[in-house]
Amino acid sequence: MASQTLVPDLSTTIAGVRFPLCFMNASGARCVTRAELEALGRSTSGAIVTKSMTREPRVGNPEPRYFAFADGSINSMGLPNLGYHAYAELIPSLKAFGKPVIASIAGLCEDDFPDIAGTISKAAPDLIEVNLSCPNIPGKPQIGYDFDASERVIRKVRAVVDRPFGVKLPPYFDPAHHAAMAGVLQRAPVDFLSLINSVGNALVIDPERESVVIKPKGGFGGLGGAMIKPVALANIRAFWNAFQGRIPIIGVGGIGSGTDVFEHLLAGASAVQIGTALMEEGLPVFDRLGQELATVFAKKGYHGVESAVGRLKEL
Ligand code: DHB
Repeated sequence: MASQTLVPDLSTTIAGVRFPLCFMNASGARCVTRAELEALGRSTSGAIVTKSMTREPRVGNPEPRYFAFADGSINSMGLPNLGYHAYAELIPSLKAFGKPVIASIAGLCEDDFPDIAGTISKAAPDLIEVNLSCPNIPGKPQIGYDFDASERVIRKVRAVVDRPFGVKLPPYFDPAHHAAMAGVLQRAPVDFLSLINSVGNALVIDPERESVVIKPKGGFGGLGGAMIKPVALANIRAFWNAFQGRIPIIGVGGIGSGTDVFEHLLAGASAVQIGTALMEEGLPVFDRLGQELATVFAKKGYHGVESAVGRLKEL
């Protein structure tokens, strides 16, 4: 009998939507223009996630507005995007790539969310990711840190969409805040969680130039990359524990290797998104992560994504 080689299954399912591979771009990373979105379609990304779309097209904040360093990145892009009407028109052709399309939506005020969600839902993306955590618009606090506002937005979106939707949350740093948001999600359910957005309003300094490294907001911006992985893992685990796995989680934050993907799965993520590593390495990052995750699975005897989700051991 020929010996069988075990090929690990890297596919996953979120809210009833099947992903051929469990990793994809994080919203914001190489996903603003039609060309970028089509390139994601041709790549081995497991999905196409759009840049967070606003009501009107936006050019975003002045440059430099993204800076990468050894252990991470900082950005204050200011939501540059084509506006939701343009993405609504693009979605049908993006779906032809044969992988899920996730529309990320962002409002500058609470009522923007249902307006954008209602229209984008008709364009039939596979999932809608409601971004409650953009840290970079001067004068606009992150909605995810206001629990009452978050609940209102979720209810308003639920009333107008007929697609599964989830929320992208900011990192929380205290169990009381995880409990407060879990209470919101108990009362106003969503179909998935994307955890986490960047660690907002960090400051990176170049000591040589004695200067900030990005121009907007006096140098303050959202932190991403390797240095935020433990914060991401903690938030994934906290919400996995709160719902015992009943709300699927997309892990985001600090993934640069197959082992990092594996850690996100153990904490409770069913899929992952790649931000800084995609910005720095480009689309080939997906091939590398796929190979590395398959190697980790094979070495550890896991047959696929589902068998690893939430399996973190406590001491
Ligand atoms: C931007 C940054 C974010 O972290 C986000 O969630 C949405 C938008 C930005 O600055 O464009």
